[in-house]
Amino acid sequence: MEKQLNKSILITGCSTGIGQALVLEYLKQGFLVFGSIRDKKMEPLLKKKYGKNFIPLVFDVTDYSQISRAYKKVKLTLKGTNLGILINNAGIAQLGPVEHISSEEFDLHLRTMVLGAFNCVQIFLPLLGTENRLIPGKVINISSGGGSIGQPFMASYCSSKHALEGFSESLRRELLIYGIKVIIIAPRAFKTEIWEKSNVDKRASEFRKTVYGQAFSKFTDFIKEASKEGQDVKVLAQKIYKISTLTKPKVKYSMGPSGLQFFLIRTLPKKLIDRILGKYFLLIR
Ligand SMILES: NC(=O)c1ccc[n+]([C@@H]2O[C@H](COP(=O)([O-])OP(=O)(O)OC[C@H]3O[C@@H](n4cnc5c(N)ncnc54)[C@H](OP(=O)(O)O)[C@@H]3O)[C@@H](O)[C@H]2O)c1
Repeated sequence: MEKQLNKSILITGCSTGIGQALVLEYLKQGFLVFGSIRDKKMEPLLKKKYGKNFIPLVFDVTDYSQISRAYKKVKLTLKGTNLGILINNAGIAQLGPVEHISSEEFDLHLRTMVLGAFNCVQIFLPLLGTENRLIPGKVINISSGGGSIGQPFMASYCSSKHALEGFSESLRRELLIYGIKVIIIAPRAFKTEIWEKSNVDKRASEFRKTVYGQAFSKFTDFIKEASKEGQDVKVLAQKIYKISTLTKPKVKYSMGPSGLQFFLIRTLPKKLIDRILGKYFLLIR
């Protein structure tokens, strides 16, 4: 456990899901919580819901100037103290075969989950301890199982999460100079709004007439089933809180259902996994 804990945190993407659960957990632990949302209309509602220790920040992680404005607000509020933790959580997940998705959609994933994390890290580094070397802060990047495994129909998402993990590794090594820790959290299936937002049924009908029709539909059924059986985000938030208090955290934590399929995917040779996934998702006849 950390000897001196700086009880201030910034979490991106707090309107729903994991971000929302993290806000609740850190408030419960007595933190001053800065939470980013995109919809300005939510600001008064969230202030009322969470109370005076929650400070909403309105920004899109892809917009450098919006985040820079939020930085000024955070700096002013912290009155000369540092920010303890930055959690890069904001994310999206759209499914589709590479042959058919648009380059704009692919780009949006990279901008949200890679450039977004870069923007927040670069802008908030002075408050995390590069300017004022009080207690060094921590950066926690929310990756995914898709940060180390490439699932079919998830190229935009998996590319972004793989890139986020590469970014995190470089950053972790650079920030050794300041003692700022960088931790990757890779959740597997948790119950959130992420798949509802990505309209998987509409997507399945879009690709029905392509060569991937049946395979894509089978894959979306698998995703829907996995999200139905997803674990409670409250438990994930509690685990992330505990990790953030450690003096010597590991570089990466995977969390969530650790069923047979995850074990096999991690351990079997990749070519064999290709055949298993190919057969299962009707990509090999
Ligand atoms: N749920 C899982 O099983 C699971 C598994 C592995 C990894 N993850 C990761 O966990 C993180 C949170 O996902 P979730 O499941 O909690 O999904 P979620 O409920 O959809 O939450 C995503 C959050 O990110 C925000 N967001 C999206 N694009 C943004 C942008 N450009 N700028 C600022 N905020 C943006 C959303 O805001 P709006 O409301 O404005 O859209 C929302 O608050 C993501 O990085 C996701 O990849 C989730």
